[in-house]
Amino acid sequence: MRKLAIAAICCAISAAASVPTVLKLDASKTGAPVQPTMYGLFFEDINYAADGGIYAEKIKNRSFEFPNALTGWIPFGKVSVAESGGPFERNPRYVTLAQEPHRSKHTGLQNEGFFGVSFKKGEEYRFSVYGRHGQSGSATIRVELVDPASKGESMVVASAKINVDKAGWNKYTANLVPGKSVSKGVLRVFLEKNPAGSVDLDHVSLFPVDTWNGHENGLRKDIATALADIKPGLLRFPGGCIVEGTEIPDRYQWKNTVGPVENRPLNINRWQFEFQHRFSPDYYQSYGLGFYEYFLFAEEIGAEPLPVLNVGMLCQYENPDPKVQVPVDSLDEYIQDAIDLIEFANGDTNTTWGGLRASMGHPEPFNLKFLAIGNEQWGPEYVERLEPFVKALRKAHPEIKIVGSSGPSADGKHFDYLWPEMRRLGADLVDEHYYQSAEWFRDNAARYDNYDRRGPKVFAGEYACHPRGRKFNHFDASLLEAAFMTGLERNADIVQMATYAPLLAHEEGWQWRPDMVWFNGDTVNLTASYFVQRMYARNKGTNVASLLADGKPLTGQDGLYASAVFDADTDAYIVKIVNINKESAPFEIILDKLPKKAALGSVECVAMGPTSDPDANYYSADMLGESVIAAPAVEKRSARLSFTVAPRTFALYRIPVKK
Ligand code: AHR
Repeated sequence: MRKLAIAAICCAISAAASVPTVLKLDASKTGAPVQPTMYGLFFEDINYAADGGIYAEKIKNRSFEFPNALTGWIPFGKVSVAESGGPFERNPRYVTLAQEPHRSKHTGLQNEGFFGVSFKKGEEYRFSVYGRHGQSGSATIRVELVDPASKGESMVVASAKINVDKAGWNKYTANLVPGKSVSKGVLRVFLEKNPAGSVDLDHVSLFPVDTWNGHENGLRKDIATALADIKPGLLRFPGGCIVEGTEIPDRYQWKNTVGPVENRPLNINRWQFEFQHRFSPDYYQSYGLGFYEYFLFAEEIGAEPLPVLNVGMLCQYENPDPKVQVPVDSLDEYIQDAIDLIEFANGDTNTTWGGLRASMGHPEPFNLKFLAIGNEQWGPEYVERLEPFVKALRKAHPEIKIVGSSGPSADGKHFDYLWPEMRRLGADLVDEHYYQSAEWFRDNAARYDNYDRRGPKVFAGEYACHPRGRKFNHFDASLLEAAFMTGLERNADIVQMATYAPLLAHEEGWQWRPDMVWFNGDTVNLTASYFVQRMYARNKGTNVASLLADGKPLTGQDGLYASAVFDADTDAYIVKIVNINKESAPFEIILDKLPKKAALGSVECVAMGPTSDPDANYYSADMLGESVIAAPAVEKRSARLSFTVAPRTFALYRIPVKK
């Protein structure tokens, strides 16, 4: 019903009383290319986006390396923690389960997962553990998926026994298929009484078998699929502020995130403590989702990878004193990390880092082209540290495009200082961030129309509309993002990358909102901002097309916005229009100077209208109105298309050209 209603409003031939806005599209001009990287994803492990989120591991603190070794675990019976001597050098702790002498008592561990261990009826889950039996020569453990709230006869919905019977530390696995779906389950590991004996355990893990592309150390298929569906051209990772660190050891070090997953050392997550009103004391980074997995995911979704590396600076919000930053003459290790990362991504398999990549399963290069140095840094302290990076990278890898920062906001002191400095240093792109008000998004669709085009290109690296008092993902904020993005599209000669932020949020574990995609243990919930991004990314075209109203771009005059691209791959013009008004808006598009003998095909329309509940946080694909307008006639190389855009609607028109 909803589909038909929107289609009728948006795409019907206009019968509206008011004067239509006439948009002239000059088909004789081919504008600047739209870069394949134009619309992308910005991934940061905030809001439990990685551990507890897209990274499909279900066990929290699987290696017992949280500061409190048993965070996330309830031990029962005779459980002890050894501080060292486990099978993994960089995760040295392990646990010992010893026999309870009393016949009625048991020894084991229960894990709470991330906001519960969720599992689905009939799906397969791979349990794995590193085990070593004690003196007795073997030990048996029993693994259970449990529904603690079960009202049935048994709480146990799946179980398996594993004999830990080989000499020394070994990996053991068992697949479990629950007979029931449970959202807030737990995992239990029991030491069986018979045969008697103790067992040492480490790296206790539970993954769905059905991950994204079936990778064992994989991603949640539902979340990864939602991201892939956008068809993003860029994946920026791993942050965000997470790159920076609150203290030097907390900074993100990519080398700790590659190699065998069991040996990647734990790091604190700065979003644990950033906002006291959203404090998350169990938020750490296992790095199970590390740089190899990011590169692989980027490749699999057809996105260019854009890693961001630490420039030798801590988060300046948390560390305002410039003296605490890494001294400029001590940056060698940081610069070497950047050079080694390029080798990890692109190097030959006979190099140190290229060899590691190959050993992890990817002998082919990842074709890294872009590297960002520093996240949201500012001031001369940033510039003086970035400079040696630029010099070293230009020398060693002139083929890599360098992305610099313009600070944390869209204008002001830091921004005004940094842009000329980025130009001076010869950065290829400058990362701009704007979490701004509704008014700002409403008024900034022309932001790039007169930008200085003599220097670096623009990467709109983090943006989202944050209206006052309404910091959830409501429709009108997303509509303003769509309006603003007409300006990104029109200026694709200078704006070459844009990524909404943040990307993911756990419904029970968020620190920051709005976010593009929400999830819990069972489901993924999409937002209107997600569909705005998806409509742009799937319809980015290949070249900007000139689209003018009264000789000027439509950038908010009377609450209306428009931009257009030509898509050489499908021979079609794609026009995007945003009407932020409470009244519908009649339009005419005049396609002028079409190629000789060209005809137009029927026009496909997609309209994104408001949610009926103004407080809705989510949006779904079945709320998009889809319809078709009959092919407009072409006379003397000109065609006219008339329609009305409904109130508060983002509408897209795909107009095929038949030559
Ligand atoms: O996206 C959330 C945070 O906003 C990022 O970590 C940071 O770069 C910005 O301040």
